[in-house]
Amino acid sequence: MSASPPYKVSASLPMSRSGSPILGHSSLPRRRIAFCSLFTFGFVVLNGLFVIAIYHTGHLNKLFAYLPRSTLPLGFKEPNPTMQSSTKKSVLTLLFLGVISAISAPTSAPKVVLTNDDGWATAQIRAQYNALTAAGFNVILSAPADNRSGSSSFTAPAIPLIFPCEFDSCPAGSPAQGSNATDTRINYVNAFPVDAARYGIQTLSPQFFSSPPDILISGPNIGANVGPSIFASGTIGAACEGSRNSGITSLAFSGQSTTAESYTNLDVSTSSTIQSALEYASATTAFIQKLFGTPSSPLLPTGIILNINYPSLTFPSNGSSCSSAQQFQYVFTRALPALPFVNDVNICNYSGNLPLEATVSSAEGKCLGSITVLDNTLKLDVGADTQKAVLDRLSGAGIPLVCYS
Ligand SMILES: *[C@@H]1O[C@H](CO)[C@@H](O)[C@H](O)[C@H]1NC(C)=O
Ligand SMILES: *[C@@H]1O[C@H](CO)[C@@H](O)[C@H](O)[C@H]1NC(C)=O
Ligand SMILES: *[C@@H]1O[C@H](CO)[C@@H](O)[C@H](O)[C@H]1NC(C)=O
Ligand SMILES: *[C@@H]1O[C@H](CO)[C@@H](O)[C@H](O)[C@H]1NC(C)=O
Repeated sequence: MSASPPYKVSASLPMSRSGSPILGHSSLPRRRIAFCSLFTFGFVVLNGLFVIAIYHTGHLNKLFAYLPRSTLPLGFKEPNPTMQSSTKKSVLTLLFLGVISAISAPTSAPKVVLTNDDGWATAQIRAQYNALTAAGFNVILSAPADNRSGSSSFTAPAIPLIFPCEFDSCPAGSPAQGSNATDTRINYVNAFPVDAARYGIQTLSPQFFSSPPDILISGPNIGANVGPSIFASGTIGAACEGSRNSGITSLAFSGQSTTAESYTNLDVSTSSTIQSALEYASATTAFIQKLFGTPSSPLLPTGIILNINYPSLTFPSNGSSCSSAQQFQYVFTRALPALPFVNDVNICNYSGNLPLEATVSSAEGKCLGSITVLDNTLKLDVGADTQKAVLDRLSGAGIPLVCYS
């Protein structure tokens, strides 16, 4: 395996100044940054003065009661009947943080719908939700109420719960869709992964974002999704739903070395599943940050999904094992063996075809993730031209890609 990235940033990398919102603003022209910052700063100061004025006249609660849900600051899901002094402090802290973040990032946070097929209460999806939220993304979780692994692109109307949600995370008799009592961005849908993805995009996004999401993330799945298993995978099914039917850039992630555990273990357990969940979540977050860090419109070429498989992790690390997301490098792969005379994008002197994702992601001691580009309808490997467009985009965004040998 060569350590240096084999790919050059293509000169024809699609770039757009007016593309999707990005984290940071390094690529905006200076004058525009100055203008944005000044404008945002002025706006925030005026806003702050206005809120402080209302706050001192004791009418803040009424104001919050009239604000649409998506503009409520964190911690104000419901209007409070009385204002506690700790609440007052949080209001001022939020205003302060708002000013700081407005100055440092004039663009709005990317909007993410997060789903999976293992269920809304697994440690993996909650770790991913926490990591993305902590990194400043605007996230909605919409996932099946129970384990729907292997349900491909099945779809059905959501129905009320006959049995409790997985890990008893909701009681029997709960409605067809529901949300966490204290964080309404965390939602279950009692149907298939495809239905959960659709609910996140079509019902929750208008409510929380007032717009479609910028990206759909499916997973990280419990266990690999490589080779022919992609056809059965609900993780892949949900990503294809987002990309094909809603036109949302959609990525599927899977981690080899995890088992089913409840999110309630995240705070209390140091099992290898929990440690893996945290590492995979941080790898996904870093991947998505890189995509948004380099502007492009669309975010990825259309008509495809990415299928990303993380290597298996061992704890504790012994020097030669893979135990941290920071060690991950990625290999550009294909899902299925190529048909005769079909050539993939020509890189790494592979002589015709890319390595298989199953081979790469399970290679011992190499700590390699695999990235496969799949057609969002057929779930088959795409042609060389599309592979090249995606590869140029990923290497341009700084995803650490290496050759496999
Ligand atoms: C809802 O969120 C709270 C706070 O994050 C958490 O303590 C609780 O366990 C969650 N419940 C479910 C079912 O997600
Ligand atoms: C869901 O079911 C699959 C297949 O039976 C299993 O591998 C996986 O661990 C299960 N996940 C959960 C969260 O129970
Ligand atoms: C480290 O752990 C890996 C995975 O368990 C194992 O294959 C390898 O032999 C170990 N290396 C050493 C030096 O103990
Ligand atoms: C491909 O092979 C050529 C000739 O052997 C070599 O010069 C080049 O460095 C190789 N490229 C990669 C990416 O390994």
